[in-house]
Amino acid sequence: MARFIDELKRSHRCGELRLDHVGQEVVLFGWVHTYRDLGGCVFIDLRDREGITQVVFEPQVNADTHKVADTLRKEWVIGVRGKVRDRGTMRNPKMDTGDIEVTGVELMIFNQSPTPPFEIEDDPRTNEELRLQYRFLDLRRPRVQKLFKLRHNVAQATRRYFDEHGFLEIETPMIVKYTPGGARNFIVPSRLHAGQFYALAESPQLYKQMLMVSGFDRYFQIVKCFRDEDLRIDRQPEFTQIDVEMSFINQDDLFGMIEGLMVNIFKAGLGVDLTERYPGGKFPRLDFYEAMEKYGSDKPDLRFALEHTDLTAITVEHEGGGIPFFGDVAQKFKNGEYRLDLPEAIIKALVIPASAGFSRADVDAFETVVKQNGGKGLARAKVAPDGTWTQSPFKKWATDAYREAVNAQTGAQPGDTILFQVGPEARVHVIMANLRVHIAKKMGLIPETGSGGDWNLSWVVAPPIFEREEDGGWAAAHHAFTRPYDEDLDLIENDPGKVRCYRYDLVLNGFEIGGGSIRLHDPEVQARVFNTLGLDGEEAERLFGFLLKALRYGAPPHGGIALGLDRIAMLLGETNSIRDVVSFPKTQKATDLLTDCPDPVSDDQLADVHIRTVIPKKD
Ligand code: AMO
Repeated sequence: MARFIDELKRSHRCGELRLDHVGQEVVLFGWVHTYRDLGGCVFIDLRDREGITQVVFEPQVNADTHKVADTLRKEWVIGVRGKVRDRGTMRNPKMDTGDIEVTGVELMIFNQSPTPPFEIEDDPRTNEELRLQYRFLDLRRPRVQKLFKLRHNVAQATRRYFDEHGFLEIETPMIVKYTPGGARNFIVPSRLHAGQFYALAESPQLYKQMLMVSGFDRYFQIVKCFRDEDLRIDRQPEFTQIDVEMSFINQDDLFGMIEGLMVNIFKAGLGVDLTERYPGGKFPRLDFYEAMEKYGSDKPDLRFALEHTDLTAITVEHEGGGIPFFGDVAQKFKNGEYRLDLPEAIIKALVIPASAGFSRADVDAFETVVKQNGGKGLARAKVAPDGTWTQSPFKKWATDAYREAVNAQTGAQPGDTILFQVGPEARVHVIMANLRVHIAKKMGLIPETGSGGDWNLSWVVAPPIFEREEDGGWAAAHHAFTRPYDEDLDLIENDPGKVRCYRYDLVLNGFEIGGGSIRLHDPEVQARVFNTLGLDGEEAERLFGFLLKALRYGAPPHGGIALGLDRIAMLLGETNSIRDVVSFPKTQKATDLLTDCPDPVSDDQLADVHIRTVIPKKD
C-alpha cells in the first residue's frame, strides 16, 4: 500500500505525455475527471493542474487493478502506474495528450470524494454563488488554473524586471493610521488602546513616499490593499497592487520604466510582443480633457472611435437652436447662471453610422443604458438624404441653421443617427461613455468581453489637480500631494479648476490598470495647495503631519505609480470578472461565501476591543 508516493514518485504531469513517451512506464497522480466503462475496460480521464491524460484499465493487464478501477468515481484522488501507448486510430486531436493513453497496471485510491455539487468543467452553468461556496472545487477547473498560472507569470516577470532595474522590494505596514482622502478604509479596533482604531492600508502611498525620503531611491512591492468601497466587475475589497516609487525622475522617466514593465508582463503572460505595436515600447498619451471631451471617460476604450461631439458652445451660439429645453440651457449660459468652464450643464452628441444597420427598435433600446446611468431619456435624429432630421423629437423645433451646424460639427452623414444628451457634465459624460461602449459592442467593433486580440494601451495625462465640491469649495481630485504643472502655478489661487498636474493613469482597453503621480515636494507650493483646499496649517498637520514632517527633512523629487495586478491578470486572461483571478474572492456584496464571512463575534471578543454593537445580532 505504501508503494505510491514513498516508492513510486510522480514521473510526469497529466498534460505532459506525447508520442515520444510511447513505451515508457509512468506514474501519474491526480483527480478522476471522468470515468466510463466500455466493453469491459475502464477509461479514466485523469486530471492535474497541467492537463488531462486518458488512462485505460483492462482486465487482461491486471485483473485486480481493473476491479478497483471499476469503483472509481468523479473527483476521487488516485495514483496510477502504467505504460504509455499510441492511441492509433483512436487519437483525439482536441486533447493535448490525445495521441496517447496510459494502460494502468497499478492503481491507488488516496481519497474518495462525494459527488461534487457541480461539474469541474470550464464554463459551467452552475451559478456563481454555489461555485464560490465550493471555491476549492471551482479552482480545480482547468481554465481557472490557467488563469492563476498566468497571474503567477505576471508577478514573477514583475519581480525579475524590478530586480534587474535596481528596485528594492520593501514591505510596508497594513495596519496603519487612518488618513482622509482616497478610498474608504476598513477600520480595526485596538485592544490595548480603548476607543482607538487602526485602519487597513488602502495603499502604501504615504510609506513609499517616506521610503524615498529615507533614500531607498527605487522601491517596489507586490502588495495587498484594502478598500471598503462598492464593488464592480473590476473591484475587490482586498486587491493587489504592483506598487512603485522612484526618486530623481520626471514623468517621462517613470513612463519609460513602466512601459518596459508592461512589455515584459505581456511577453511573460501571453507571449505577446508589445513593441510590434508600439515601436520602442512607447505608449501613446492622451490629454485628460481630450479624453473627457471625445469619450466622456478618463479611461476610454480606444480600440474603436465613435467619438462624442460637445455641442454646448454651438447650442449657446444658436440660443438653443429652436429646441425648447436647449433654449433654457442656452439662456442660463447667457445670463451667466451657467459657465462654459463649469460642470453645470453640457450638451453632447454621438453619431451612429448608417453602416451599423440598427433598426428603430434597436436605437429605442439604447434608452435603457441611459436610464441605468441616471439619465431621463435619449433624444435622437436620423439624418435624411437632404440633411433634415427624421425620427426625432427635435424635427419640428430645430432651426435649419442649428441643424446644419450640428450635422457639420458631428460629421453626421445621410442615414446616420445622432444621439443627444444634455445635463450636468459628469452625468452626461457617464451616460455617453457607457452608450459609446454599448453601441460598439452591438456594432461588433469590440467583443462583448475580452480583447479580441487587440491590446490598446495609453497614458491619460494632465488632469486637473482640484475638483469642485458641491458647496462650491475645492477638493483634491486625486490627492493633495500631486505636483501641479509649473506653468499653472499662478492659477492655484485665481482659477483652481484650471491647474493641471502630473497625475497619470495607464489604460488598457477601457480599464484603468494603473495610476500615479509625480509628488509635490516643494513645501511652499504644498501650502498653497492646502490653502485652496481650505486646509489651514494646523488642520494639515493634524491630518498628514507625519508625512509633512518627513517631506521637510530633505525629500528628493519623486514620483510613482500603482498597477492593479488583479485587473491586469483579468484582462490578459480574457475573463470578464476580477473574481476569476482572485483565489478566494468576495462577492459583489463583499461577503465570502466559502467561510461565511463577515459574521458576528462573541460579546467577550467585542468587550476585549471595547466595542458594543447597536445592531441586533442574527440568530
Ligand atoms: P489608485 O487608487 O489609482 O492609486 O490604485 C492603483 C490601481 O490599483 C487598482 N485598483 C483596484 N483593483 C481592484 N480592486 C480595487 N478595489 C481597486 N482599486 C484600485 C487599479 C488602479 O489603477 N497610491 C496610489 C498610486 C500612486 O499614486 O502611486 C493608488 O493607490 O488598477
